[in-house]
Amino acid sequence: MNTPAELVRQHLIDAEICIRCNTCEETCPVHAITHDSRNYVVNFEVCENCRACISPCPTGAIDNYRSVAKSKPYSIEEQFSWDELPPQADPGPTAPSELPEDVVRITGIATSGQGGPNLPPWSAAHPYESLHTLARPALATVSGNYRLTEDGASSAVHHIVLDFGRTAFPVLEGQSLGVIAPGLDAGGKPHHVRLYSVASPRNGERPGYNNLALTVKRVLLDREGNSVRGVCSNYLCDLKKGDQVKVVGPYGTSFLMPNHPGSSLMMICTGTGSAPMRAMTERRRRRAAFKEGGRLMLFFGARAAGELPYFGPLMKLPKDFIDINLAFSRVPDQPKRYVQDLIRERAEDVAEMLCDPECYIYLCGLKGMEAGVNEAFADVCRSREMIWDQVLDGLKRDARFHVETY
Ligand code: FAD
Ligand code: A2P
Repeated sequence: MNTPAELVRQHLIDAEICIRCNTCEETCPVHAITHDSRNYVVNFEVCENCRACISPCPTGAIDNYRSVAKSKPYSIEEQFSWDELPPQADPGPTAPSELPEDVVRITGIATSGQGGPNLPPWSAAHPYESLHTLARPALATVSGNYRLTEDGASSAVHHIVLDFGRTAFPVLEGQSLGVIAPGLDAGGKPHHVRLYSVASPRNGERPGYNNLALTVKRVLLDREGNSVRGVCSNYLCDLKKGDQVKVVGPYGTSFLMPNHPGSSLMMICTGTGSAPMRAMTERRRRRAAFKEGGRLMLFFGARAAGELPYFGPLMKLPKDFIDINLAFSRVPDQPKRYVQDLIRERAEDVAEMLCDPECYIYLCGLKGMEAGVNEAFADVCRSREMIWDQVLDGLKRDARFHVETY
C-alpha cells in the first residue's frame, strides 16, 4: 500500500488580484517574498508563515494557500509564470485540519495572528473593499483634469476627477483605488494595477455626486533621478474630459479617520501624500457646522509653495479650523526644511497630541520620510521624559498611528 504524501499548506499570492504594490515584500521579516516584472511570489523554503504580510496587503491577494506534498511545493519559477492560482488539488487522505500538531506548528496552518491586524480607529465608518476586481473593473468617466502645481514647478501634479455614474464605488477618506492603464507591458501582458489615494471625502468631490478626486504626480524621473515615463501616472495626467478609465478597489481598511466628536487628527505628508489629508480635512470642513470639536494639525512638506498640491485652497482655511505647518526644502536662500524639522519646532503641541487619547496620527507620502519622522517623534518624547518606542506601541495598540508611504 502507498503511504500518503505528507501534505503541507503552501502560502501563495493570487496574481489575478495582486496589485504589485510591494507592501508584502517590504513587510516580510525573513525576505521570503520576491518578484519579477509580473508576479509577486513566496519562497516556500524561506517563508515561516508568521503572517506579518497578511494584514498590510490592500487586496487580500496575499492570503492564499494550497495543500501540497511537502516534497513538491510550487517553485518560485512556477509561480512567476502564473496568471492565476492553480486549482486546489484533492487534499487526499490528510486534510489540513487533520494534520499532526507538529506539522501545523511548522507550517503555520493555524493562523497565529502574529504581528496583529492593522486596525482602524474605533469610530471609523465601515469601508467597502475590492468591490471591483481585475476581472470586473469599474468604468469611470473623467469629469475634470487640471494641473495643481505651478507651470514652472519641477513636477506636474494633477487633480483628476472621476465620475462613476450609476456604478457603486463607495469610498472613505484614506482609502485608495487601483487604475489599470491600457495597453501591454514589455512582456506583452496587461499593465499591472497602480494604486492612488482618494483625495475627496466620502460624499464625493462634489457633494452628492458619485464622483471622487485623485492627486497624481506625473512620473518623469525614477527614484534615482534617471529619465523615465511612468506608465500609469502619465496615462492619468494626459486624460481628457469624457475619457473612460478602468478602476479596481476600493482598498484599505485601517488608514481611516475617526468619526467621533472631539477626535483630533495630526496629519504629516509630503507631495501626493497630501491626497488622503485633503480628503480628511475636507470631510471635517464640510461638517464644521456641527461643531464636533477636535483639532486638526497638518505638517506638509514640498520643494516650494508652487510645488505644493492644493496650496491655494489650503491657505484659505481658517486658522482656528486647521493648524498648518509647511516645510519647504528648495526655496532659494532659505535653509532646507523637512516635516520632521517642524515636528521638532512644534514639540509642545506635538507632545500634547501624542498624549491625547482622542488624537489620531496619519503619515503619508515619501517612504524616506518615515525614518526622519520617527526620529523627530523620538526627540519630542525624549524632551518630555517619554520613550517613543513605548508611546508608539501604545499608539499602534489603540489604532492611533497610521502610515501609508510609497
Ligand atoms: P512606473 O511605470 O510604475 O514606474 C516608472 C519608474 O518610476 C520606475 O523606475 C519606478 O521605480 C519609478 N517610480 C515609481 N513611482 C514613483 C514615484 N512616486 N516617484 C518617482 N519615481 C517613481 N501616486 C500618486 O501620484 N498619487 C497618489 O495618491 C498615490 N497613492 C499611492 C498609494 C499607495 C498605497 C501606493 C502603494 C502608491 C501610491 N502612489 C500614488 C504611487 C502610484 O501607485 C504609482 O507607483 C506612481 O504613479 C508611478 O506609477 P507609474 O506607472 O507612472 O510608474
Ligand atoms: P527634497 O528637496 O530634499 O527632495 P517630492 O517633491 O520629491 O515629492 O518631495 C516632497 C518633499 O519631501 C520635498 O520637499 C522633499 O525634499 C521632501 N523629502 C525628501 N526626502 C525626505 C525625507 N527623507 N524626509 C522628509 N522629507 C523629505
